[in-house]
Amino acid sequence: MKHLIIYSHFNPDSFTKAVTDKLFDTAKAKGHEIKMIDLYADQFDPVLKASDIQTEIETPKNILAYQELIKWADHYSVIYPLWWGQMPAILKGFIDRVFANGVAFQYGPEGPKGLLGGRSARVIINTGTPDIYYEQTGMHKAQVRVNDAGVFGFCGIDTQITFFGDVAMGSDDLRKSYLEQVPVLVP
Ligand SMILES: Cc1cc2nc3c(=O)[nH]c(=O)nc-3n(C[C@H](O)[C@H](O)[C@H](O)COP(=O)(O)O)c2cc1C
Repeated sequence: MKHLIIYSHFNPDSFTKAVTDKLFDTAKAKGHEIKMIDLYADQFDPVLKASDIQTEIETPKNILAYQELIKWADHYSVIYPLWWGQMPAILKGFIDRVFANGVAFQYGPEGPKGLLGGRSARVIINTGTPDIYYEQTGMHKAQVRVNDAGVFGFCGIDTQITFFGDVAMGSDDLRKSYLEQVPVLVP
């Protein structure tokens, strides 16, 4: 399996990094061919530019290289902390710039069509808020809708979402139990 891991956190001591490491080790043990995008380490510029979307201007080389990676993969793991009810800005900007028209989707006479069909994604979202509260308030539902219908599913990717809640104030045992669940999230 060609497995692309997209990691979005500035802190190597974060829970998000611990999840990413566990996922990486599991995928390696399963024999996956793995490529990792570490957006902070790459100092990715998340601001969409005319050159990203206007065909008459040359697309930046780093964006073309990321686009090759998303076409290369047949599975994506996307791991991030929830910030203000949304994905980190650096990841949002990555999607804006890399999942471009003609690469990840295309508009035709019948509307938009995903170009990344046949691929799967596991999105892992870490939240400070306990799961039960976000289940009750519809916040989880909103994340599923945005990630699936709004982004990855829109591009034709079969998308599954996992939430790990209460990770900041919860106990070490809770965080440990989440890390133990990571292997089942790797195909
Ligand atoms: C700028 C910022 C905004 C945040 N917004 C939310 C939020 O909207 N909902 C939530 O549950 N947690 C929120 N948090 C808490 C983080 O999701 C939580 O600290 C994180 O998942 C812990 O994992 P980490 O160790 O990987 O950072 C926010 C944290 C920061 C720094």
